[in-house]
Amino acid sequence: MRKVLNVVGARPNFMKVAPLVDAMKRREHEFTPLVVHTGQHYDVMMSDAFFTDLELPEPDLYLSVGSGSHAAQTAAVMQRFEPVVLQQQPDWVLVVGDVNSTLACALVCVKLGVKVAHVEAGLRSRDRSMPEEINRLLTDQIADLLFTPSQDADENLRAEGIPKERIRFVGNIMIDSLNKQLARAKDSNVREDLGVADRDYAVLTLHRPKNVDDRETLTRILGTLEAIGSRVPIIFPVHPRTRKMISGLGLEATSLAAKGIRLIEPLGYLDFLRLYSGARLVLTDSGGIQEETTVLGIPCVTLRENTERPITVEMGTNTIVGTDPQKITTAAFAALDQGPVSGHRIPPLWDGHTADRILDSLL
Ligand code: UD1
Repeated sequence: MRKVLNVVGARPNFMKVAPLVDAMKRREHEFTPLVVHTGQHYDVMMSDAFFTDLELPEPDLYLSVGSGSHAAQTAAVMQRFEPVVLQQQPDWVLVVGDVNSTLACALVCVKLGVKVAHVEAGLRSRDRSMPEEINRLLTDQIADLLFTPSQDADENLRAEGIPKERIRFVGNIMIDSLNKQLARAKDSNVREDLGVADRDYAVLTLHRPKNVDDRETLTRILGTLEAIGSRVPIIFPVHPRTRKMISGLGLEATSLAAKGIRLIEPLGYLDFLRLYSGARLVLTDSGGIQEETTVLGIPCVTLRENTERPITVEMGTNTIVGTDPQKITTAAFAALDQGPVSGHRIPPLWDGHTADRILDSLL
């Protein structure tokens, strides 16, 4: 019997950990899972809603870390996670993705000599100004086992000198959640509540510090989107970081709505899935949404200069445009004119069975 601590911290972690815990519960003769929530994200719509939607059991341990500077947040996670590991003595700790909680918990484990595995290893944007890139690089250097979503990730790790014995290509864990929840998401009334018709609207998400923390960049992006909003309504569930910055700019939700950009509160997993799966176009700076739109064949315009997920571009759904107004509108209008991506492909092992492959490797 293997005792496994599954670490979650921020919104993009929940859909990665849910299928792992689910599979461990199914394989109860082999695994005893515990869920540790660092509390990096704590709002109901950034955290609790995801436990319900993803049928993820309540955390066994909650560390209440909250917000703070990178150093303060990372240090607080480390200080609070260390006694948990010492007390629980797990056989494995699983960390996922690239948030501050991921690196902090991996570092605690390696210093204590407790085995840690990184799920979603090997992704690289090669942009070291992104906090996530630093988290990815360092976590992969120190973790004992690296579970990769795609073969480009294996190549990145090998190029950094990581021995192949530590690398396992298992596919994309997020797609386990997507495939499982697609049917349940059909019960969501989010499109009806918003009054949008199938394939007749766009969805926008924006939260990267590079895009939202700088007034000029955020103003330019929102200004550019008005041209798209004049063709289709843009539904914009607003991340708390972005909400603060938009208020700081003195922009009113009503004036943006008049230009076709409708600000709404962050959505839970099922409502958001229902929403973007019916969109004609998705505009985003998220990593995970680039992957989810690839699997569903939805055109995605990525408002970043780079991606750590190049396979989404290769598969034909994703276009990387940065924040240049001309590039954004050209790509968005092309997507609106073309409709759903035809002949898109799904990457190898993005098949909904990644959790079991990971558990097999842990045995
Ligand atoms: C974090 C991750 C990022 C991920 C994103 C998804 C890091 C370095 N960044 O960024 O990789 O894509 O989560 O959302 O780990 N806040 C709230 N309520 C919350 C959480 C945050 O109001 O529940 C506000 C706080 O003012 C906080 C700010 O949002 O200061 C930013 O939160 P933080 O966790 O530092 O980073 P994110 O931008 O959410």
